[in-house]
Amino acid sequence: MMNSQFETLLVESDGPVLVVTINRPKALNALNQQVLTELLRLSDALKDSSLVRAVVLTGAGEKAFVAGADIAAMAAMQPAEALGFAELGHRVMDSLESLPQPVIAAVNGFALGGGMELAMSCDILLAAENARFGQPEVNIGVMPGFGGSQRLPRRVPFGMAAEILLSGDNLTAAEALRIGLVNRVLPQSELLTESKKLAHKIASRAPVAVAKTKQALHTSRQGSLADGNAQERQLFSELFATADQKEGMRAFLDKRPPSYQGK
Ligand code: CAA
Repeated sequence: MMNSQFETLLVESDGPVLVVTINRPKALNALNQQVLTELLRLSDALKDSSLVRAVVLTGAGEKAFVAGADIAAMAAMQPAEALGFAELGHRVMDSLESLPQPVIAAVNGFALGGGMELAMSCDILLAAENARFGQPEVNIGVMPGFGGSQRLPRRVPFGMAAEILLSGDNLTAAEALRIGLVNRVLPQSELLTESKKLAHKIASRAPVAVAKTKQALHTSRQGSLADGNAQERQLFSELFATADQKEGMRAFLDKRPPSYQGK
């Protein structure tokens, strides 16, 4: 993954962890067509990468993660164009969510509208103390278009989702922590370090096992318990065909750390 492939993203490898920074600080990292297209391209490349085991997603600067979809780009849209824009946004969010690698959102400031939707397409959200969350679309005459009306009520209690979506008000990091939207609130200066630390921990686990666990985790939000358990049994059994299952269990019995190959 090379920086030269992208104009609006910075990508930096830290061993098996890839740190992706949305880099349009002048527009508070707002998501326009170009950012979305580049995120999709990055995600397509990542899903086949055996070098990257976990991803940290953040925003450039100390003020914003992503302040939303680009309002200047949307202002003159007609319905058909808006549908295409939402379809692109949905493809990006779905694609990040279905990556085999876990993705941690390091929310370093405003995560509003499309920015909150992007954070919610990540598996785990960590927030800086100055982070602010909200779905302010109703304030500007629209509604969430990148999955917010669907992912938010799957992440927080229904009534909280309703208040956030219908009032358009922002939440502080402490409020986001209280409703369980974010796992931890950290000083801005520690956010990236702690996010990378968690990513490295995940990256040290058996990669195929992590990928299948992520798959099962996301299935749990869709179908019935019976269907989810059927998939879990299937994925569980498939892991017994991996070298890493043999290694992980042998290492435990030998009382030594495991050495995983990702197969
Ligand atoms: N789109 C385009 N540009 C944006 C932007 C956005 N979502 N958010 C901020 N910017 C731009 C501002 O226009 C401004 O540009 P200029 O310097 O050229 O004027 C620059 O970023 C800095 O922003 P502000 O001067 O507004 O900074 P502030 O500190 O006064 O306020 C803020 C910060 C509260 C985040 C404010 O910028 C804001 O309210 N932004 C919009 C938030 C929003 O409504 N997001 C939802 C968009 S709709 C959506 O996302 C739909 C969807 O689901 C697909």
